[in-house]
Amino acid sequence: MAGYRSKFSHLCCAIALAATAMVAQAERQCLDCHADDDAPIHAIAGTVHGSLAGGGSETCVACHGASLEHKKKATKNPPDVSFGPEWPSAPEVRNASCQTCHDTGEQLLWAGSEHQQENLSCDSCHNAHQQKDLVLNKQTAEKICTDCHTRVRSELHLPSRHPIAEGKTACTDCHNPHGGTGPAALREVSVNDNCFTCHADKRGPFLWEHPPAAEDCALCHKPHGSVNKSLLTSRSPALCQQCHATAFHPSQPYGSEGLPSGSANRNLLGKDCLSCHSQIHGSNHPSGARLTR
Ligand code: HEC
Ligand code: HEC
Ligand code: HEC
Ligand code: HEC
Ligand code: HEC
Ligand code: HEC
Ligand code: HEC
Ligand code: HEC
Ligand code: HEC
Ligand code: HEC
Repeated sequence: MAGYRSKFSHLCCAIALAATAMVAQAERQCLDCHADDDAPIHAIAGTVHGSLAGGGSETCVACHGASLEHKKKATKNPPDVSFGPEWPSAPEVRNASCQTCHDTGEQLLWAGSEHQQENLSCDSCHNAHQQKDLVLNKQTAEKICTDCHTRVRSELHLPSRHPIAEGKTACTDCHNPHGGTGPAALREVSVNDNCFTCHADKRGPFLWEHPPAAEDCALCHKPHGSVNKSLLTSRSPALCQQCHATAFHPSQPYGSEGLPSGSANRNLLGKDCLSCHSQIHGSNHPSGARLTR
């Protein structure tokens, strides 16, 4: 190679030769070395990014940087931005590269998001060189999410569940993986607003509200899956008794003495609070103050 030959040249020619060599080497573009036989790399031509900057080596520069040192001595110097496997750049360097173009819209709240703080990078989920970026498809995305979120994965198969495994609802219907303004990177500002996008009938306004329903659906429901029916956090009456220790009628079958010989309340023994208080989310009936109708 010209670079090595210059070492053995006469001193007075060395500078001139080195200069020529640098020009020659600088002209070696990404695709000269990352040639056609590197099929996985070239698959990028079939993606939206493949046509950036008119295709060719300038395309590569958009994400990997100009990488002048790498072009000079590729086996020693990493490109400016590498996503690995050899010389992975720090997550913030990789993310900055993508965010030069993607810092608005869905990606606006990336900075400060839980995923950003956990040192994920865009390529933790996205595959830039593949023609089919699997995370953009709702069904194949679920596997990518649950590979890390294993507890959520197990919740998806509980007896009561949002039909995510069935493909009728998806993680990204409720969450923006790039961050959000509300809790748990939800697409809406609150849990309730998120639920109302699909369960509009629970929004009210009701003549008789049940305060916890108006406040936070998650006080009684688990979002992903539950062993109890209707995604409930626990079963009635235990569910209700978390808050209703005393009521117009006792909320427990026996008095506080807890003696089985005490007289059981006929309203409660063996009965479900819901068999009378059926309008648990709120009632519009004129005499529905007790949520019974
Ligand atoms: C002189 C030939 C040559 C040129 C020019 C070249 N590369 Fe490389 N590149 C290589 C070689 C060889 C490797 C493998 C290095 C290794 O694994 O030791 C490599 C590795 C890489 C890697 C993988 C890094 C990693 O961490 O695994 C990326 C990304 C890369 N090059 C991008 C580019 C880009 C972008 C350009 C153009 C700006 C470019 N290369 C120009 C030869 C070249
Ligand atoms: C849209 C941004 C983007 C563009 C444009 C881009 N890359 Fe990449 N490149 C990545 C990401 C991200 C990875 C990590 C693997 C993945 O996600 O597909 C990567 C991985 C690589 C690797 C390492 C792959 C390995 O497994 O060894 C090489 C080499 C590489 N790119 C070269 C290039 C070349 C050459 C071009 C121009 C034809 C280019 N890249 C264009 C984002 C990009
Ligand atoms: C030079 C600007 C630029 C850079 C850098 C860039 N992108 Fe893009 N990207 C675009 C454009 C333009 C589009 C097509 C229009 C759009 O969807 O915004 C696009 C589209 C996408 C899409 C949607 C693809 C589809 O098929 O609909 C994803 C996902 C994406 N980019 C991820 C990335 C990731 C990850 C990186 C960093 C590894 C990256 N981009 C770097 C410009 C860029
Ligand atoms: C936790 C996984 C994950 C991470 C990390 C992630 N994304 Fe995404 N991204 C997705 C999913 C899922 C979609 C498709 C659903 C959607 O639109 O939100 C998507 C969609 C996109 C799109 C196309 C839709 C649009 O907004 O136009 C772009 C562009 C994009 N991501 C860029 C990025 C960039 C840039 C980063 C890093 C700053 C990043 N993503 C990090 C999962 C992720
Ligand atoms: C590479 C691993 C990884 C992948 C892939 C991943 N996550 Fe995460 N995610 C994490 C980590 C780590 C946390 C923080 C700890 C936790 O809450 O489990 C997190 C947190 C979250 C949170 C809570 C955010 C908050 O603000 O409290 C949500 C929601 C989430 N991820 C959804 C998703 C979705 C949806 C996908 C798929 C599009 C996904 N994640 C893919 C690692 C990952
Ligand atoms: C029907 C809407 C919905 C769907 C679909 C959904 N989530 Fe959630 N998720 C929520 C809500 C709501 C919360 C917050 C609960 C709270 O704050 O009490 C949450 C919380 C989380 C959290 C943080 C708290 C925790 O439980 O660890 C993670 C991580 C998460 N979801 C991941 C996922 C993944 C992965 C998927 C897809 C397999 C998914 N979610 C599907 C609504 C949903
Ligand atoms: C993207 C739409 C969507 C969002 C958002 C959503 N759900 Fe659902 N939910 C569904 C679908 C679809 C079903 C299944 C309905 C069916 O099978 O008839 C369902 C069913 C349910 C069920 C009944 C489960 C069972 O086992 O019978 C409950 C309870 C529920 N959702 C509560 C919530 C709560 C609480 C929220 C907010 C955290 C929420 N949903 C957000 C779509 C959604
Ligand atoms: C005080 C506890 C509680 C709160 C808070 C609550 N729910 Fe429920 N929810 C229940 C109970 C109990 C059931 C089962 C009703 C039955 O089996 O008759 C249920 C059932 C459901 C169902 C399935 C049956 C149906 O009526 O469609 C959906 C959907 C639902 N709730 C959505 C929500 C939404 C959305 C919110 C927030 C606005 C919410 N729930 C808040 C207790 C609650
Ligand atoms: C997270 C706490 C919480 C849970 C769980 C809860 N409630 Fe309530 N409930 C309240 C609050 C707060 C009020 C309003 C009390 C008031 O206005 O004095 C209320 C009001 C009521 C009322 C109307 C009483 C009145 O004085 O107007 C009934 C009936 C009722 N709840 C039944 C139930 C039933 C049945 C369950 C179980 C399915 C349940 N609640 C679960 C907090 C809760
Ligand atoms: C057999 C029917 C029945 C069952 C079962 C039942 N209730 Fe009631 N509950 C009533 C009636 C009737 C009222 C009074 C309604 C009225 O005045 O309009 C009432 C009133 C209430 C009130 C309002 C009390 C007050 O002090 O103003 C609460 C709270 C309540 N019930 C909670 C519960 C809880 C929690 C359970 C389950 C542990 C339960 N109920 C089971 C019929 C029932």
